[in-house]
Amino acid sequence: MTPFFATFFLLGLSSVAATTNFNQVYEWKELDYEWPSEASRSKALKDKTFEPDNISPHFIAVYGSRLFLSLESYGGIPVTLVSLPTSSASSAPPKLTPFPSWDMHGKIGDCDKIEEARGLEVDSVGRLWVLDSGSNTCKAKLWTIDLANNDQTKLIHEIDINHSMHDLVLDETPNGTFAYITRWREEHIVVFSLERNQSWFVHCTPGLRLISIALSPKDQEPRQLYLAKSKELYSFSVAALHNGTRRVNPKLIGNWTGPPYRMLMDNQGTVYAAFLWKNYASSWNSSQPLQEQRFREAAGKDSYWPFTIALDQNGTLWMTVFDTNREKPSQRLLKAAVGAKSYMFEAPPDGSSGAEGNVAGKPPKEEY
Ligand SMILES: *[C@@H]1O[C@H](CO)[C@@H](O)[C@H](O)[C@H]1NC(C)=O
Ligand SMILES: *[C@@H]1O[C@H](CO)[C@@H](O)[C@H](O)[C@H]1NC(C)=O
Ligand SMILES: *[C@@H]1O[C@H](CO)[C@@H](O)[C@H](O)[C@H]1NC(C)=O
Ligand SMILES: *[C@@H]1O[C@H](CO)[C@@H](O)[C@H](O)[C@H]1NC(C)=O
Ligand SMILES: *[C@@H]1O[C@H](CO)[C@@H](O)[C@H](O)[C@H]1NC(C)=O
Ligand SMILES: *[C@@H]1O[C@H](CO)[C@@H](O)[C@H](O)[C@H]1NC(C)=O
Ligand SMILES: *[C@@H]1O[C@H](CO)[C@@H](O)[C@H](O)[C@H]1NC(C)=O
Repeated sequence: MTPFFATFFLLGLSSVAATTNFNQVYEWKELDYEWPSEASRSKALKDKTFEPDNISPHFIAVYGSRLFLSLESYGGIPVTLVSLPTSSASSAPPKLTPFPSWDMHGKIGDCDKIEEARGLEVDSVGRLWVLDSGSNTCKAKLWTIDLANNDQTKLIHEIDINHSMHDLVLDETPNGTFAYITRWREEHIVVFSLERNQSWFVHCTPGLRLISIALSPKDQEPRQLYLAKSKELYSFSVAALHNGTRRVNPKLIGNWTGPPYRMLMDNQGTVYAAFLWKNYASSWNSSQPLQEQRFREAAGKDSYWPFTIALDQNGTLWMTVFDTNREKPSQRLLKAAVGAKSYMFEAPPDGSSGAEGNVAGKPPKEEY
C-alpha cells in the first residue's frame, strides 16, 4: 500500500493567522490484529471468533510513542484493547497489538481478564486507566496499566454492577485521585476513590440519562464536571463529590447540535465533542456561551460513532476518523498540533503554550 499523506488546512480563522494542519498518520482499508500465528488467525476466522469488518475504535488514548484504542465489542472481536505506534517507517499501516497482551483478554466470563474495554485515560504519572464493562457473570472493573513501568497491569477495583460502562475522567486532587464514570443512558455517575478503594453512585437530578463526561482543567477552581444528556450539556462543581454526596443537581448550560458520545476538555478550557450519527466534530471555548465550532468533518454520515479523540502530553490532538464514502470505507488516524494538553495538566502561566494552531474555526477543507 502506498503511504498516503494528506494535509488539512483550517480556513476562515479570524485575526491571527493560525492554521491547523491535520496530518494523516495512517489509513486502513481493513483493521486487523497482530496474531500470534497465521494458524491462530485462520482458526478464528473460521469459527467466527474474529470478524475483521467488526473492528471499530471506540475510545483512544496516547502516551509517549504509543496509542491505545478500545474497540466496540460486537461479536467477532476477540480483544477490545489494543496498542499501536504513533509513527511507523513502514508504508503499510500497523496491525493492532492486543494490549497489554493476548493473555490478558479472555472469553466473556473470565472475570480476571479484560472483557469489554470502554473509556481510556492516561493519568499524570503515566498509568493508563481502562474502564471495563464486565459481562453477565463478571462485574465492571477498573484496570491500571503502568505505561512507564513495563506495562504492569492491576485490577484496581470492581464496581458493584455490570454493563453499560461508557467513559471516565480522572480528578487528581491533593486529597487523592477520583474517577468519575458515566454509564450509557443511566441517570447516575459512578464515583471511585482510589485511596479508599471504594465506589458509589451519585444520582443526577432531575433524571438525567447521561452519555458523555468531561472535566474542566486542573487549575480551574472550582473544577466543573460536564455531563451530556442527549444534546443537552450540564455542569456542576466536583467539590460536592469528594465528601460522599449521593445526589447532585447539575445545571443546564446549553445544547449541542447532536448527542455527544465523546467529550474531552483541554487545559485551556476548550471542549472537543464528537456526536452520534454526525459526520463532524466540534469544539467550544467554555469561557463563552455554548457555541460550536466545527473542526473536523468526515466523508459520509451513516456511521454511529465516526470519531475518537485524544490529546497527548505534547500539544497534539489525535483522532481516528471513519469515512464511509471514500473508495472503500476506511479508518484513518489523523493528528493536529493544537498547542494544548489534556485537562489533566496545568495550563502554562501566561495562557499560551507555544500554540501553533487553534482548532476553533470553520471546518477544514481537505487539500491533497
Ligand atoms: C512527547 O514528547 C516526548 C519528549 O520529547 C517524547 O518522548 C514523546 O514520544 C512525545 N509523545 C508523543 C505522543 O509524541
Ligand atoms: C450482571 O447483569 C445481569 C443482567 O443485568 C445480572 O443478571 C447479573 O447478576 C449481573 N452479574 C453481576 C456479577 O453483577
Ligand atoms: C480494592 O477493592 C477490590 C474490590 O473492588 C478488591 O478486590 C481489592 O482487593 C481491593 N484492593 C486493595 C488494595 O485493597
Ligand atoms: C481536602 O480535604 C480537606 C479536609 O477534608 C478539605 O478541607 C479540602 O477542601 C479538600 N481539598 C480538596 C481539593 O478537595
Ligand atoms: C458535601 O459538599 C457539598 C458541597 O461542597 C455540600 O453541599 C454538602 O453538604 C456536603 N455533604 C456532606 C455530607 O458533608
Ligand atoms: C435545549 O434543548 C431543549 C430541548 O431539548 C430545550 O427545552 C431548551 O430550551 C434548550 N436550551 C437552550 C439553552 O437552548
Ligand atoms: C476563550 O474565550 C476567552 C474569553 O473570550 C478568551 O480570553 C480565551 O482566549 C479563549 N480561549 C481560547 C483557547 O481561544
